[in-house]
Amino acid sequence: MSSQIGDNSAAARNRAPIYQALAPWLSSDARVLEIGSGQAVHARYVIAQRPDIAWQMSEAPAGLAALCDSLAREPITAQPTPITLDVRQAWPAGRFTMIFGANVAHIMPMAAVRALFERGAPALMAGGCLCLYGPFFDTQETPGAGNQRFDAALQARDPAMGLRTRQALDALAEAAGLVPAACDVMPQDNRLLIWSKR
Ligand SMILES: C[S@@+](CC[C@H](N)C(=O)[O-])C[C@H]1O[C@@H](n2cnc3c(N)ncnc32)[C@H](O)[C@@H]1O
Repeated sequence: MSSQIGDNSAAARNRAPIYQALAPWLSSDARVLEIGSGQAVHARYVIAQRPDIAWQMSEAPAGLAALCDSLAREPITAQPTPITLDVRQAWPAGRFTMIFGANVAHIMPMAAVRALFERGAPALMAGGCLCLYGPFFDTQETPGAGNQRFDAALQARDPAMGLRTRQALDALAEAAGLVPAACDVMPQDNRLLIWSKR
């Protein structure tokens, strides 16, 4: 079964395999921008393994207070202060080696997913990568029952939410100058999709 909306226990279960899949893409001078950091579950875990990298957490305005509360309870030291970032608005200056988002593409409306690619690609250095983790559909595959149920539950909650197809994301990536680089199969029928900048 796929991740639930804002489910920190799912994030905690998945953080280790996500880190293992991201690790080959994290160079010693990595500068990561995380979209929708939630309560910093992934940031906390990756930074604990790799204190040498710079991890910029961000949250949409509605999620920033929960992120800051989590960091107040359990601080992460020697990393940039989290920033407010709605992917449809202005992005931070600076080039990143990686943009990472876990469980964000099925929560954002499609216009925001499009903005994530359009505005994210210019924020990447040449050779940098955009990585999205979560449940996705693939038009070439029969969807798993868990992902179908999750998609139906999302759409019942908000018709703008829902699982995206890998092919739709590939099209957005290509239009933004990114090329498919990896599709890692992850536990519970999730994927880590990676596109790199030429
Ligand atoms: C299901 S939560 C995932 C949180 C965290 N990444 C995790 O895996 O535990 C979805 C996240 O997407 C963020 N989000 C939704 N719309 C957004 C937008 N337009 N721009 C940036 N973040 C957004 C939410 O604020 C929320 O943190």
